[in-house]
Amino acid sequence: MQERKRGKLRMTQQGVTVWLTGLSGAGKTTIAKEVNHRLLERSVPTEYLDGDELRQTLCKDLGFSEEDRHTNIERVTFVAKLLTKHGVICLAAFISPYEAMRELARREIGSFVEVFVTAPLKVLIERDTKGLYKKALRGEITDFTGIQAPYEAPRHPDLVLETDRQDYRACADAVIRLLEERGYLP
Ligand code: PPS
Ligand code: ADP
Ligand code: MG
Repeated sequence: MQERKRGKLRMTQQGVTVWLTGLSGAGKTTIAKEVNHRLLERSVPTEYLDGDELRQTLCKDLGFSEEDRHTNIERVTFVAKLLTKHGVICLAAFISPYEAMRELARREIGSFVEVFVTAPLKVLIERDTKGLYKKALRGEITDFTGIQAPYEAPRHPDLVLETDRQDYRACADAVIRLLEERGYLP
């Protein structure tokens, strides 16, 4: 019934979820914010979901075990699917370290592009903007992705952004270009 009703709504654009995956410090948040800003400047309906924010709200009961990370991504997927269905460009910035969870998101959301944000671990340890790598390397955090917990790199991402090779503006340019090429932006 809801599906049929929605058929009568005037949708101005096809929604899509841009899923940014990668290790902590790779640049997911910085790039997602920049793309969000540029889309808003073009008056495109957009929403931005970020691991650090969701983990203080919708997912504040969750930790970083494999099971909790799956639950986290299931909840995010639920929200991103709703936004996408209603014509929003949803920027989702989550480590999402397991291929199975990203595939679930892709399957559920349907209109989906996967962006792999990456830089060598050595660079991330040097950046360490939140001091989390230092804590993990000292053993004060014991389940940190890339140090003690696994990260399964995407095998067929729609876009790879090497953030040690190009700055965040160039990375945002590449995301916007991809959205234009795929027909998600006028
Ligand atoms: S996940 O794996 O997708 O469920 O993680 P996510 O929801 O994106 O949350 C990642 C942010 O949590 C902080 N943080 C940790 N990350 C990884 N491992 C451990 N143990 C951990 N503890 C805290 C960290 O700030 C992550 O944000 P980003 O932006 O990736 O640095
Ligand atoms: P994440 O959300 O993946 O943990 P952040 O965006 O919080 O990553 O941090 C990335 C850090 O790397 C920031 O300090 C940012 O200024 C820096 N950085 C350097 N080059 C880039 C780039 N090309 N894209 C994004 N961030 C970059
Ligand atoms: Mg972040």
